[in-house]
Amino acid sequence: MGTAPIAIALDSREIEDLREWIAQTREIVSTLKIGLETFYRIGADAIDLVRESGCDLFLDVKLHDIPNTVAGAASALARYSPKYLTVHASGGSEMVRAACAALPETYITAVTVLTSLDDQVLREVGICTPAQDTVLRQAASAVEAGARAIVCSPHEVSRVRSEVGVDIVLITPGVRPAGAAPDDQKRVMTPVEALAAGADLLVIGRPITGAVNINSAALAIAQEIDRS
Ligand code: C5P
Repeated sequence: MGTAPIAIALDSREIEDLREWIAQTREIVSTLKIGLETFYRIGADAIDLVRESGCDLFLDVKLHDIPNTVAGAASALARYSPKYLTVHASGGSEMVRAACAALPETYITAVTVLTSLDDQVLREVGICTPAQDTVLRQAASAVEAGARAIVCSPHEVSRVRSEVGVDIVLITPGVRPAGAAPDDQKRVMTPVEALAAGADLLVIGRPITGAVNINSAALAIAQEIDRS
């Protein structure tokens, strides 16, 4: 397990990719993230690889259902002892509380408004408050219900920090090293900028996993962070 505050997004359909990425980065980064696609395609084998790596497991399966069902799903995931497990903050405080009660050792991590949604899309689904205000409201409500970490855009992180205080872990995707391709991320920050804005853990996928030399790509970001 490394010390860089990076969660590598292990997004692939091939378990061989995961093996390679983990071997190249496990001594650099603190955390490895399994998301929905990898979880549904590869399942527990992917999780086992992360557990064997010694890095923290970030299980990004974004639970969202009635509180009783979320409690059942969270308890079913207890066997993997994830450090972080994501739930949608929009599932409401009772749902977040149910997840926290089911997995007390895990940082239940509330995902606020997805960065793919803007004010117009939110209005389409009946949410008429501006996205920024909704993020703050959801973060406050999730923390009140026991969430110990929040996922938000790097552009929201300083306002979320003021809302929830210093003890909550703020996790940000949408991070790109200076000069890297944004891929489909729209409003990006560099790792150093995101940390300076108040993020504790940076989710980074393709700038590392898509690099020709994965180890060097991860090391370069870790060194950039160290120098800042
Ligand atoms: O490859 P990239 O660095 O864009 O990967 C970002 C990761 O963070 C992906 O696993 C993506 O699903 C996740 N994510 C995101 N934006 C959010 C929440 C999660 O990009 N708002």
